[in-house]
Amino acid sequence: MEFLDLPPMLGARGTVRLPGSKSISNRTLLLAALAEGETDIRDLLASDDVERMLEALSLLGVAWTREGDSDNYRVKGVGGPFPVKAAELFLGNAGTAFRPLTAALALSGGEYRLSGVPRMHERPIRDLVDGLRQIGADVRYTGNEGYPPLHILPAAIRCGGVVKVRGDVSSQFLTALLMALPLTGEETTIEVVGELISKPYIAITLDLMARFGVAVRREGWERFVVPGGVRYRSPGTIFVEGDASSASYFLAAGAIGGGPVRVEGVGRDSIQGDVRFAEALAELGARIEMGENWIEASAPADGRLEAFDLDLNHIPDAAMTLAVAALFTDGPCILRNIASWRVKETDRIAAMATELRKVGAEVEEGADYLRVTPPAELRPAEIDTYDDHRMAMCLSLATLGGVRMRINDPKCVNKTFPTYFERFAEVTRPVPVVAIDGPSASGKGTVAARVAEALGYHYLDSGSLYRLVALAALREGTSLEDEPSLATLAAELPARFEGGRIYLGADEVTDAIRSEECSVGASKVAVMPAVRAALLDRQRDYRRAPGLVAEGRDMGSVVFPDAATKVFLTASAEARAGRRYKQLIEKGLPANMQSLVKDLQERDARDAARPVAPLMKLPDAVLLDTTDMGVEEAVAFVLDLLRS
Ligand code: DC
Repeated sequence: MEFLDLPPMLGARGTVRLPGSKSISNRTLLLAALAEGETDIRDLLASDDVERMLEALSLLGVAWTREGDSDNYRVKGVGGPFPVKAAELFLGNAGTAFRPLTAALALSGGEYRLSGVPRMHERPIRDLVDGLRQIGADVRYTGNEGYPPLHILPAAIRCGGVVKVRGDVSSQFLTALLMALPLTGEETTIEVVGELISKPYIAITLDLMARFGVAVRREGWERFVVPGGVRYRSPGTIFVEGDASSASYFLAAGAIGGGPVRVEGVGRDSIQGDVRFAEALAELGARIEMGENWIEASAPADGRLEAFDLDLNHIPDAAMTLAVAALFTDGPCILRNIASWRVKETDRIAAMATELRKVGAEVEEGADYLRVTPPAELRPAEIDTYDDHRMAMCLSLATLGGVRMRINDPKCVNKTFPTYFERFAEVTRPVPVVAIDGPSASGKGTVAARVAEALGYHYLDSGSLYRLVALAALREGTSLEDEPSLATLAAELPARFEGGRIYLGADEVTDAIRSEECSVGASKVAVMPAVRAALLDRQRDYRRAPGLVAEGRDMGSVVFPDAATKVFLTASAEARAGRRYKQLIEKGLPANMQSLVKDLQERDARDAARPVAPLMKLPDAVLLDTTDMGVEEAVAFVLDLLRS
């Protein structure tokens, strides 16, 4: 399984240019295809769901071209039903392609087969099929009754009259009917049965149909009259707004992580209901500003967001972002009227409950609501994403709680936002890490500790972890050759670091781990990949606000490869031996310069030659040669480096 490790974040600030709206992109493509004339579509979303629609249109005889590799497309409308009368379409998990195409194809007088990924075949479509059958369409289920895949056959369509469609499972059924009915040429009235959910998405549909020349008469949210004798006509050029649902992650980042974070591409004049996510954030206390084509969010003046209890039926997608924002509020939060989550890319109510619990929240899951109680402190977690782009994007926000997150299958964001994680990285500030390594006796430990102190950062002496493993093994009688047992020991190591003292369980072992026996043991266990792997997460957990100085062999390569500052601290073997000589003499211990130099040279050679985590200067590390330099100077050098 592919994964992405996100570092803990300190805050968020910046500007994001949003990708095009998925809802608008796929609706616009279909309308442009059915319309008379050519349509230039600007800023179309580049994503999986839109790809599925474009592929389908090609197979159905609609010619379109892309301007270079830009997001600008030209669609040559067919001016009525699809000209290709037989096709098999695979539509992935793109609901915005599947439902509207089903309706348009049912009225195109051909034989078509529509299928998708397994999850698509679990997402209900009966309400739409029932609606289409009322006007004579021949739509059959080839798998489970009420679900895709579908087989559409030519049929005599009874034009005009009334079509009833349920509106309480997915608003996309109504959208699909609305967009297809002008193909009949007769006035048709759609009556919505049950309370219509996600109304703002219907508003998008009506707005776009009007731009293509078909004005639907809306009576409340119950009756929609599609006029007769009308055809879609290209508006010439159409600009796709930025995706308001995608905006929600960045606005929430601003509200949680200080901000301001600005999104460009949607604003006050947007036709997308999800811009109202900004209002919901404002209810949590976030500071929101809005322009014609941008929205900006910042944290409340006094820091923490307020707990909420909101009906979110009108913004079902962006509401997911609020479930994660709930982690950053001051009390239990309730998200109400979100039953449609259960029939989306995954059962989002269940998925969200499971993942929020992983980061420490207490979650109560109802048929159509979630109650999220934030934990006192978030926990690092491995997040599953259920092939659902929004799960991945939402949960990335948990890193703003100063904890790392591993996002499994991060490419699921391709559905609507292939560059999401790049944009997220641009507006977030990871907890900084200074990684310091170097040969034995180079003074890296002293320098690292002093730098941490000067900055008020946490300090990780990773070598002491290997020493602790060796000590624990020696005490327990575990063989230093037994890699699996040593790895288990490392994973469960009861180590604590407190005020410069080191503990193993209840015992203080600050001096004990410095013994020759532990040094030799540490160098043995440190070359065991299983031991190193067992210590990896533990080391990463030291990365906490406001920052970390991490010292040791693989700090800048394996443990914190994204460390912004990497230093390779060295000195000539003679200089290092000289320092050690002085220490030994001061302690009244015997010392011999020549043998000290020889020992260090041999050790350097061994460290550089070992196959696992060898000693080396990383290409992106700054070399600091302290042969002619004191500790103060070395510390000042690192601090200067950081500031620059
Ligand atoms: O820095 P030190 O002497 O306390 O390290 C003890 C041993 O652990 C030494 O053999 C180097 C090794 N080590 C390692 O392999 N990786 C680290 N990140 C830190 C130390």
